[in-house]
Amino acid sequence: MAAPYIVTISSEKGGVGKTTLATNLAIYLKALHEDLSVTLLSFDNHFSVDQMFRLKRKETPKGDVSDLFTGASPNELIETGEYGVQFIPSCNRLSMMRRDLDDPAALARALAKSTLDGIVIIDTRPDLDIFTQNALYASDRVIVPVKDAPSMDNCRHIYDFFDAHGLSRKPLRILPCLVDGRIHFDGPFRDPYQLLKAYAINRGYRCMEGYIAKSPKVESLNTNPEGKIYPVLTHGRHTEVHVQMTHVARQIYLNSIDTDQRRLEEYLAEMVHAEQEHQSAYEKRRSNLQPGCLVCGKPLVDKEVIGPAGYFAQSSDLRVSGYLEEECFNSLVFRHFYGAKRTIEAHDPIWDLFRETAQRSYFLLQRAPHTRNFYQQKLSFYRFDDNGLEVSHKTIELQEFEKRLLSKERSDLYPLLERTLFDAQGRLGDAFLLLRKVSSDLPEEILFDQNFASFSAVMAKASTQLP
Ligand SMILES: Nc1ncnc2c1ncn2[C@@H]1O[C@H](COP(=O)(O)OP(=O)(O)O)[C@@H](O)[C@H]1O
Ligand SMILES: [Mg+2]
Repeated sequence: MAAPYIVTISSEKGGVGKTTLATNLAIYLKALHEDLSVTLLSFDNHFSVDQMFRLKRKETPKGDVSDLFTGASPNELIETGEYGVQFIPSCNRLSMMRRDLDDPAALARALAKSTLDGIVIIDTRPDLDIFTQNALYASDRVIVPVKDAPSMDNCRHIYDFFDAHGLSRKPLRILPCLVDGRIHFDGPFRDPYQLLKAYAINRGYRCMEGYIAKSPKVESLNTNPEGKIYPVLTHGRHTEVHVQMTHVARQIYLNSIDTDQRRLEEYLAEMVHAEQEHQSAYEKRRSNLQPGCLVCGKPLVDKEVIGPAGYFAQSSDLRVSGYLEEECFNSLVFRHFYGAKRTIEAHDPIWDLFRETAQRSYFLLQRAPHTRNFYQQKLSFYRFDDNGLEVSHKTIELQEFEKRLLSKERSDLYPLLERTLFDAQGRLGDAFLLLRKVSSDLPEEILFDQNFASFSAVMAKASTQLP
């Protein structure tokens, strides 16, 4: 099934006729094409949509527009209303949710997963809040009603939103609304419509054909003793607004059958592409891994599995990345940096303490400052917290190890440095090695996009704090 064609009515100005246009457009589309599925929803905090379309004696609604942002499927929320128009009930708690939402693509995702088709019309608040942004992001067509020069100036923010998100400006259309036919000007622009259109064109904005006139009859349709909101189609047939609404609806319908690829389809294609990029970035990281433990060399990484590994490490020059066994790294740290003279027994509580703090730490090895000379190489060992801020550091002489090496005492630090930071002459370069504890169940988790981005962010932040 084809994705629905999404039309958003948006303007940062209130009282320009958004809700009137959105609700009537739904009815006119349905009148033009009985078989067309038309779904309406509003992010405004009044209940015009529900008032106008809800059939009497409905059981309690299954949800409302806020549920589109909490994982509900649009299909489950839809109610069939008057005139055959479907709608999703409105919600007056949106302002409370606003703080917690920051993804403008959430609605596009929800709609793309649904089996909705036909045309979806979205009414918005006079605000570029996160709900309006979500509507704009998902739209094939955005109608911006303008009634005067100030409301035209406000359009700029909508255009800026499209530019900022790399969206094509093609969906955007100005529609002069509440145009007062009694006003006439001398000069080239005879009336407010001509003038608004000229303003729009002058600013590089494209317009819908025609306009919506200001009509006392239309204004009276939501002020009556019954407290109802009547459609122009049924109660204002003799107004020019009736003809104008018909014309707008016809344009929207023709646009909808004329698009090669609808916005939601484009969005889905973007998602698939992004997913492929993630996958290939992951695979690249995976294939760059050293096969063995960076300390003892024991095989840890093969085609299928990684582990058992305790730590992930990458050099800041990105030449080396791989895993270390937990034991290897822990005992290396104790031996060389925490100065443990004796071997620590497996059940010693100090291990647990270290393991526990390691979960929340990044470790870093780098040549100590001002020790470029081969014979006085020193190595610094840092601990950073989760936010990449230094917690502690300690520096040791590396020559010690050479002596030990000569005296045939086996060192575990040497092979680690050889595999990561030493150059061909056994000298420490400028790069550092950053290490992070990994989950024993899924050591490759750290290579996933978001986790790896955090690791890289700490790497960048740590490097700014090193001497
Ligand atoms: N074509 C029109 N002629 C006269 N009054 C209109 C027209 N369209 C809307 N109105 C009136 O203008 C006011 C604001 O309209 P509304 O659709 O609620 O605007 P918005 O949603 O932009 O705030 C309402 O009182 C409405 O009845
Ligand atoms: Mg409104």
